[in-house]
Amino acid sequence: SNLDYASYLKGWIRTVPNWPSQGVMFRDITPLLQNPKTFRMLIDIYVHRYMLEEVDLIAGLDARGFIIGSVLAYELNVGFVPIRKKGKLPFTTVAEEYELEYGNATVEIHTDACKAGDRVILIDDLIATGGTMMAGYNLLKKLGANVLEAATIIELPELGGGQLIRDAGLDVFTVCSYD
Ligand code: PRP
Ligand code: ADE
Ligand code: MG
Repeated sequence: SNLDYASYLKGWIRTVPNWPSQGVMFRDITPLLQNPKTFRMLIDIYVHRYMLEEVDLIAGLDARGFIIGSVLAYELNVGFVPIRKKGKLPFTTVAEEYELEYGNATVEIHTDACKAGDRVILIDDLIATGGTMMAGYNLLKKLGANVLEAATIIELPELGGGQLIRDAGLDVFTVCSYD
């Protein structure tokens, strides 16, 4: 079942204590991505979840959301749009400032990244405070997108980000969770 895959995948996520700063338990997905079986298992969970939905686009968050989002878009035969950290996108953009577990930042999207009404899955590797995912959601809403779900690998429920996003009216799908 999906839960069995989830607990198996969780075993391939490495925890690095006190990185990038004291008190943060960093959940590192690089072992999961490096192993071809777990990388495929992860992507297939999302593929099966969305393959019967009408999805127009996958929007991935810079940088770890790109790794999984682009592969998912390719598998679903839909396009991929990047939501990038400030100053990286060359065309006209809209921007959104946000705070995350260990700092603050600004993300941007191209103004022509999607059309009003496009059905979009927003994806990132992890939801901590939810700041990053909310910023991406706000950008897509500015363009009039219909954001179907926020997909992630890892949710950290004690930081409240998943709840924040759900309270804002966006469904959250996570594979793993750390209490
Ligand atoms: C990490 C992670 C999420 C975000 C989650 O990204 O990949 O995007 O933090 O935190 P939040 O829910 O509190 O916003 P980070 O900005 O560290 O960089 P990266 O993806 O470029 O590695
Ligand atoms: N981004 C924000 N908090 C994080 C954490 N604890 N592990 C990995 N990425 C993160
Ligand atoms: Mg990130």
